[in-house]
Amino acid sequence: MQESSPLVQVEQVCKVYGDGAARSRSRPAVFALDNVSLTIAKGEFVAICGPSGSGKSTLLNLIGTLDKPTDGRIIINDVDVSTLKGNALADFRRHTIGFIFQLFNLVPSLTALENVMLPLIPYRRKAGFDVPERARELLAGLGLENRLHHLPSQLSGGEQQRVAIARALINHPQLILADEPTGNLDSQNGSEILALLQRLNQEQGVTLALITHDPGIAAQANRVVQLQDGKLPGEEV
Ligand SMILES: Nc1ncnc2c1ncn2[C@@H]1O[C@H](COP(=O)(O)OP(=O)(O)OP(=O)(O)O)[C@@H](O)[C@H]1O
Ligand SMILES: [Mg+2]
Repeated sequence: MQESSPLVQVEQVCKVYGDGAARSRSRPAVFALDNVSLTIAKGEFVAICGPSGSGKSTLLNLIGTLDKPTDGRIIINDVDVSTLKGNALADFRRHTIGFIFQLFNLVPSLTALENVMLPLIPYRRKAGFDVPERARELLAGLGLENRLHHLPSQLSGGEQQRVAIARALINHPQLILADEPTGNLDSQNGSEILALLQRLNQEQGVTLALITHDPGIAAQANRVVQLQDGKLPGEEV
């Protein structure tokens, strides 16, 4: 595959929250995304920026198939993901996408190793590789070989985010979606996490879409897209 072929095509996507009834004061419609189109090429690192409430997380969640657009289409690897349901959708997500969240979203009662294996626990036999072994390798590669059996509450913020990154990588995803992955880290830990994600992008060709408020992080991306009131007015190259 050529680097420039598209991995993600967001086509005229709208997302409206609420029932849209103008009379309803309790649940007024929120136009979180308004006719957004965006193409992300294979191997690209795109930073998604914009003020709070501009629709960044909404866009990332739609690309990640965690939610469906009100209108428009999202095509990933030539598959219109809005047509996928149930197991087909779960399989697609599991094969293609890794998610990293600002608040790490680790399960508090599970150890680091168990958290990393979690996405594949129901599919352990079908995975085609040794899931616990890969989880251990990923954690060791992130400098956590001595933290495998710690609970999230026994880990620092930077360590928790590294566990979350290992969890996102357990399926060998083609696309990593990261929603402010350094937002809760100090600058030292934040730089390390960014360096890690950049290595994945540059050395393994993993496509990276990352939301950030930090201009220094955005400057590292191949491309910056700026959301404003649910719209993408123009892209900086
Ligand atoms: N589940 C929901 N129900 C109703 N409105 C929502 C929902 N999720 C988001 N919104 C609204 O949609 C708009 C876009 O939200 P979104 O979370 O995408 O913003 P954001 O750019 O990620 O902001 P931040 O930088 O604060 O994380 C906001 O006005 C928000 O209040
Ligand atoms: Mg957000």
